Amino acid sequence: MKFFVDTANLEQIKEAQDLGILDGVTTNPSLMAKEGITGEANIIAHYKAICDLVDGDISAEVIATDFEGMIKEGQALADIHENIVVKVPMTKDGVKAIRWFTDHDIRTNCTLVFSAGQAILAAKAGATYLSPFIGRIDDMNWDGIELIAQIADIYTTQGYPTEILAASIRTPLHIVRAAEAGADVVTCPLSSILGLLKHPLTDIGLAQFLADHKKANS
Ligand code: G3P
Repeated sequence: MKFFVDTANLEQIKEAQDLGILDGVTTNPSLMAKEGITGEANIIAHYKAICDLVDGDISAEVIATDFEGMIKEGQALADIHENIVVKVPMTKDGVKAIRWFTDHDIRTNCTLVFSAGQAILAAKAGATYLSPFIGRIDDMNWDGIELIAQIADIYTTQGYPTEILAASIRTPLHIVRAAEAGADVVTCPLSSILGLLKHPLTDIGLAQFLADHKKANS
């Protein structure tokens, strides 16, 4: 399973990169706004900076909601760097745009996915990645991980090559359960990735090893 970090914060991206486990980055308009990145030139410069930091797929989202606008923006984003993946929302125009990008060798990440039906449409249109939003489904008292498992079953049965990118990850347990359910990729906040490190028995065990070493060597 690939690990992407879900942020536009360059320091956090660098920290995840320094761990040696990072395969890519996802962003969205909310994450860019959170970093105060506004205006076309600054947005493009920021994506360039992310591409310089990480040698992996970098999702950059279109803002337009109409087909023509998505194509224009998506082409401009794809021109920034060969690692850019154009992120397109799961709408009627979005599906048409994904098909257009597929036919023009531009890779896509279909975002805002909340159902198996949407997952089938995105795969049929040739999406490179599919982003079901686990945390936001959990917020509605449904089970986001169940959707990942259902889509994984469908994609295996049908032989769709679209990669399942579990998104809206909120906890380390989401990462573990997404891996069990068959996600190809998880995109997570840095805090959830670092949360995977934690276990009190590791801390206790290490403290004991160091204490025993000190006693034996003093
Ligand atoms: O990858 C999508 C993600 O950024 C959304 O996360 O926590 O806003 O649901 P969240």
